[in-house]
Amino acid sequence: MTMKKDFSKKLLITGGAGFIGTNFVRHRLTHHPDERIVVLDALTYAGNLAGIEPFFSNNNFRFVHGNILDDTLLMVLLREEQIDTIVHFAAESHVDRAIHEPDAFIETNVIGTHTLLKAAKSVWLDSDFKASHRFHHISTDEVYGSLGPTDPPFSEKTPYAPNSPYSAAKAASDHLVRAYCHTYGLQVTMSNCSNNYGPYQFPEKLIPLTIVNILENREIPVYGEGLNIRDWLYVEDHCRAIELILNMGEVGEVYNIGGNNEWRNIDIVKRICRITDDKFRKDKSLSFRFPDAPPGRGIKAESLITFVKDRPGHDARYAIDPGKSKRELGYSPVESFDTGIVRTIEWMLDNELWWRSVMDGTYRKWIDLQYKNR
Ligand code: NAD
Ligand code: TYD
Repeated sequence: MTMKKDFSKKLLITGGAGFIGTNFVRHRLTHHPDERIVVLDALTYAGNLAGIEPFFSNNNFRFVHGNILDDTLLMVLLREEQIDTIVHFAAESHVDRAIHEPDAFIETNVIGTHTLLKAAKSVWLDSDFKASHRFHHISTDEVYGSLGPTDPPFSEKTPYAPNSPYSAAKAASDHLVRAYCHTYGLQVTMSNCSNNYGPYQFPEKLIPLTIVNILENREIPVYGEGLNIRDWLYVEDHCRAIELILNMGEVGEVYNIGGNNEWRNIDIVKRICRITDDKFRKDKSLSFRFPDAPPGRGIKAESLITFVKDRPGHDARYAIDPGKSKRELGYSPVESFDTGIVRTIEWMLDNELWWRSVMDGTYRKWIDLQYKNR
């Protein structure tokens, strides 16, 4: 394992107002307060500035409301800011939306990534840009397809077999990133991670949706029999892994990032229900703040679990073999699921305003007013 120099970077973070991007920006600015960070985000329904707004007064930080499909904007930003490192999170990320409206996934995940690659090539390789550069692409374990119950976990060598329009679009973007390295010499790294959870996750994904539905006394929809398995990764662990890749990752290499933490959906949902029941039992003020929530009225949260029609093409199991990241980067997750899930529930209880406003779009309306034409 070779430690490389952590030169002061000028980062462009795409999708930095989304779930993982927000956590990464916060992590990065906490550990590198003097670093230049430019966030580019289109503020789709999934993006909002609540998590990164505290940094707006920091002179090293800049937020740009824009789209990765805008090649002119990309080139201007890369040149004007002398960006040497791109961390590319921006994507449409929700499988259920991809099933119903796949077009946006092709536009952002495939064409948007290609537009970003072209801009990086143009500025970094086709001009007189002198500094070394890095394009880090964030991908997903879903590109590897679905595992059977006894199959070994996905490694970096597992052949691609994407099953949904989301994973197919992510796979296409991964291939483009690889091709820009192989053909043009763009200095890329990639990471494929498992399901993230933690603060600032939009409540359309299983864990925050379950928590919000308990607090709002809505059914918790469990697809099929709830037996599908995901390997859950606390978002802060993911951010640490990305940092390690930026510092020590080899150009052209792929790193799988997982949580060593496989759970059946039904077990996750029941676990969240039990922890929330317990929180309400111990803190009576929660019953006043969330009067509709069953545990505040002496009813178990589990009563909200409702088995619904399965997602079409629902992948049975994802699991990551993090061996390469451990060997080559010294990465291993530090958050256990026991602590990570409690931290996530507590964060949601403490940040009611955040989830209400992102869900009803008020935060975005406010942002539109503040950042129009910025
Ligand atoms: P998210 O949906 O929460 O956030 C995506 C962000 O990208 C939003 O802020 C959105 O406004 C922005 N965006 C969307 N289209 C854009 C465009 N055309 N131009 C500029 N910005 C745009 O997603 P996330 O969960 O934070 O995921 C981030 C990345 O990690 C994605 O590439 C996703 O595929 C990957 N990933 C996520 C998970 C997970 O569990 N969340 C797991 C594996 C991989
Ligand atoms: P999700 O959080 O959408 O992530 P992904 O599809 O990328 O893995 O879903 C996680 C698992 O939870 C997946 O197997 C689908 C299931 N699920 C439900 O059972 N009910 C729900 O309401 C949602 C959103 C997901």
